[in-house]
Amino acid sequence: MRNVVILAGGSGTRLWPLSRVDKPKQVLPLAGGLSLLRVAYNRLEGLVDPSRIYVCTAAAHAEQVRAQIPELPEGNLIGEPTGRDTANAVGLASAVVGRDDPDATLAIVTSDHLITPEEEFRAAISAAFDLVETRPRSLATFGIEPTHPHTGLGYVERGEPIEASPAFVVDRFREKPDRATAEEYLATGRFWWNSGMFVWRAETLLSVLDELLPASAAELRRVAGVWDSAERDAVLAEVYPQLQKISVDFAVMEPVSQGKVDADVVVVPMNVKWLDVGSWAALAGTYQVDARGNRRDENTLVCLLDSDDNVIVTDDPDHLIATVGLREHIIVHTRDVTMVCPLVDGERVKDLVAHVQTTH
Ligand code: GDD
Ligand code: MG
Repeated sequence: MRNVVILAGGSGTRLWPLSRVDKPKQVLPLAGGLSLLRVAYNRLEGLVDPSRIYVCTAAAHAEQVRAQIPELPEGNLIGEPTGRDTANAVGLASAVVGRDDPDATLAIVTSDHLITPEEEFRAAISAAFDLVETRPRSLATFGIEPTHPHTGLGYVERGEPIEASPAFVVDRFREKPDRATAEEYLATGRFWWNSGMFVWRAETLLSVLDELLPASAAELRRVAGVWDSAERDAVLAEVYPQLQKISVDFAVMEPVSQGKVDADVVVVPMNVKWLDVGSWAALAGTYQVDARGNRRDENTLVCLLDSDDNVIVTDDPDHLIATVGLREHIIVHTRDVTMVCPLVDGERVKDLVAHVQTTH
């Protein structure tokens, strides 16, 4: 049976102070009044039966997730006691969803991307389901045409085309290369960005984890074994925080593409416009822009004198933000925090949050 798991465990630190520990970015109304999570759910329309859609998220965010997706079946929220990164999140999801169906296949999709056109997204996911049903040891990724040597993404190198499928074997999967390597990859014309979404048979992923991350795999299988019993929360709370924190890209995709286990990474092209809404600069790309390059959310009230190329956001529509002579800055105003930062330092908001946490 085909299933979809939406990963919604990130906290969105780089969108602080709008996103907070208790209000993560995927539930904020960042996509034309809808949350990214709701948009991610709507995008699945017609792909699988709604009873086969799951969300894997921090247990602490369960209520906010349910508020975004009231139609999510009761048992389809997989709550993690703490974030242990994506290798464990996808391992847990695969063990839980596959616990009563040895043929379960899973599409793992993200909750923080804007993707258009949606039909192309659904067609690529369907093609990947077809593929893992006929080539059961395949771990399918999705390739996005790269536009620049981004160092915050994974790269997949296309190998041989796979017969009767739009997919290719992946000769190399490389997570977050340095700039020089990313430039080299782009120059070859053989690399795509990894979209961060995956399709596999649950049992294949777990058997790969058995070899590559055996301690976690054993614990995750143990959790799935008690999932339907009263012991579930106690076992999860005991086991989960001890798991090695590592992403699926480093723990699984890179070593599998290097031939370290008996499985293949394959890639299905996904010909979409795709935006990882991870930072203020990325989010600002979705905002309206004035003649002087200033970007703001449509509800943000501004008075800008002699100011260019700024990003200005507030969650209070009655609060006026006024600037003079300001260039290339981000200003984000919320009820209790105002953040100001040069645009070039947008990625350092993460450091700022850590600094605030240790000093306030
Ligand atoms: N449930 C759960 N638990 N979800 C998580 C956790 C976790 O501990 N950690 C991250 N996620 C979710 C995030 O919310 C996001 O939707 C997705 O998993 C990917 O995590 P990121 O932390 O955003 O990964 P990344 O952007 O650095 O890299 C991944 O995505 C890129 C595309 O955006 C990799 O797969 C890259 O190879 C890829 O290019
Ligand atoms: Mg991301």
